[in-house]
Amino acid sequence: MIITPNPRNGTSSTKSGAPISFPMAPTGGCRSILPTICKRPTGPTCDGCHSVGYDIHTKKVAEWNVGCERCHGLGSEHVAHPTRGNILNPAHMDYVQATDTCIQCHSQGRPLTSPIEGKYYDWPVGYQPGSNLQDYWKLEEHNLGETTFTHFPDGTAHKNRMQGNDFVQSVMYRRGVTCFSCHDVHGTDNYAQLRKPGDQICLDCHSPLSLNGPRTATIEEHTHHKKGSTGSSCIACHMPKIATTIADVKVRAHTFAFITPDMTDKYKIPNPCTSCHTDKTTAWATEAMRHWPERSPWRLQ
Ligand code: HEC
Ligand code: HEC
Ligand code: HEC
Ligand code: HEC
Ligand code: HEC
Ligand code: HEC
Ligand code: HEC
Repeated sequence: MIITPNPRNGTSSTKSGAPISFPMAPTGGCRSILPTICKRPTGPTCDGCHSVGYDIHTKKVAEWNVGCERCHGLGSEHVAHPTRGNILNPAHMDYVQATDTCIQCHSQGRPLTSPIEGKYYDWPVGYQPGSNLQDYWKLEEHNLGETTFTHFPDGTAHKNRMQGNDFVQSVMYRRGVTCFSCHDVHGTDNYAQLRKPGDQICLDCHSPLSLNGPRTATIEEHTHHKKGSTGSSCIACHMPKIATTIADVKVRAHTFAFITPDMTDKYKIPNPCTSCHTDKTTAWATEAMRHWPERSPWRLQ
């Protein structure tokens, strides 16, 4: 395979259910953002996540890009006799297998058996949707307290394409919220294929006094910023842009945890308050939050 990433145009898929156009194409010269990749074989390092049915022996694929079968399982029987019964739907799986259909590609890890026939793969060789990803793949290891290429000291992703590593740490994951509760991979008009734009999707499940939190009568009482202020955006505080793609291009954390100013002091993890209030110190932010009565001070230090 030769890599020809298309420029991202924000409309990587359509509402009509047309195949999702992902950026990898099997022909053309190498224009990768990482030029060294062009000189290396991409099979073990890339192709398994950018195709359907990659065969590690023949190096042939059923199809390039993220086709339906990567999430719905093998579909030849379904194509011959289309019924709901002979195709997998992640929405009907338990929460682990459901989210595994996304984690198979949106994570950093390594195959359980490694190397496989002498080669080191960066993708879960052999996994099919509906089976347990855990039987094929383990998420990248990390020791708390260490800053690595992949992780911040608290275990939050340090690089891109680790939404799976992040999300499994969230309470939401354990309560059955899935990646596709928020994203519709068949395409939407919103950024990142969200079902609704950023904060609106949160409020679907987190209206004031919701049992899911925040446990305040109004949103402003929770955010301590005016309605409509950038500082009252759920994703500004709960999904800070700290996972590095390349240079200073960053994507959002998916642990949904609030990173305290104190963690910036102790572990050098950027906190959302002083990342936005760039003229202020972490001590200023900590002091401000001391006056936010509904927050536990023990959790903010
Ligand atoms: C990246 C993963 C992924 C890909 C690729 C994908 N789907 Fe889906 N599909 C899902 C998930 C997750 C659901 C359940 C949630 C939802 O409805 O969005 C779903 C649901 C559906 C449903 C609704 C089923 C029902 O019972 O209501 C249809 C129809 C469907 N997909 C068709 C397709 C087709 C056709 C393709 C290829 C063009 C495709 N999907 C590609 C993940 C995917
Ligand atoms: C076979 C690998 C694969 C699987 C499985 C997969 N993805 Fe992706 N996903 C990709 C690739 C490759 C891209 C990059 C496409 C692009 O840049 O538009 C992508 C992009 C995305 C984006 C960003 C789109 C944008 O416009 O910025 C979202 C959101 C996403 N995937 C969510 C999901 C969810 C949710 C699932 C599970 C239902 C899933 N993906 C399953 C490979 C995969
Ligand atoms: C474990 C699965 C996996 C592997 C291995 C993988 N990718 Fe991806 N790739 C993804 C997913 C998921 C996305 C979309 C999400 C993101 O960009 O964070 C993506 C996005 C991309 C994009 C589009 C970025 C953009 O902004 O549109 C390019 C180009 C790319 N990958 C190239 C590569 C190359 C080259 C390799 C091999 C060195 C590789 N990928 C290995 C899963 C993978
Ligand atoms: C609770 C809602 C929610 C869940 C669950 C969720 N996401 Fe997201 N995701 C978002 C929001 C919100 C954004 C970014 C919105 C923005 O920047 O405007 C986003 C952004 C992304 C992006 C684009 C990269 C970026 O940060 O700009 C990818 C890829 C993605 N999510 C994949 C996933 C995958 C894979 C999962 C499951 C492992 C997942 N998401 C779970 C809400 C969610
Ligand atoms: C489909 C419903 C749903 C959506 C959408 C949703 N949440 Fe949640 N969220 C939950 C549930 C359920 C819990 C767990 C509540 C509990 O058991 O205490 C939760 C818990 C949380 C928590 C508590 C800590 C943790 O680790 O998860 C935070 C923070 C949070 N959500 C933020 C967000 C943000 C930010 C968004 C929007 C990007 C969002 N949620 C969208 C359902 C949702
Ligand atoms: C994405 C940007 C953003 C984030 C994140 C953010 N703020 Fe703000 N903040 C603002 C803006 C804009 C204002 C101006 C007043 C308003 O809109 O409410 C403000 C006002 C304030 C004020 C009152 C005015 C002042 O300067 O004394 C305090 C105190 C404050 N923020 C503290 C915090 C703390 C603490 C955090 C982290 C928990 C935080 N902010 C996170 C944007 C942000
Ligand atoms: C200015 C920063 C900030 C903004 C904006 C913000 N939060 Fe929070 N949120 C926090 C802090 C700080 C906590 C407490 C974290 C802890 O105890 O670990 C928290 C906790 C939560 C919790 C856990 C339950 C609780 O009440 O403590 C949920 C759920 C939550 N936020 C949802 C949201 C939603 C939804 C939005 C958007 C409407 C939002 N947050 C906007 C800072 C913010």
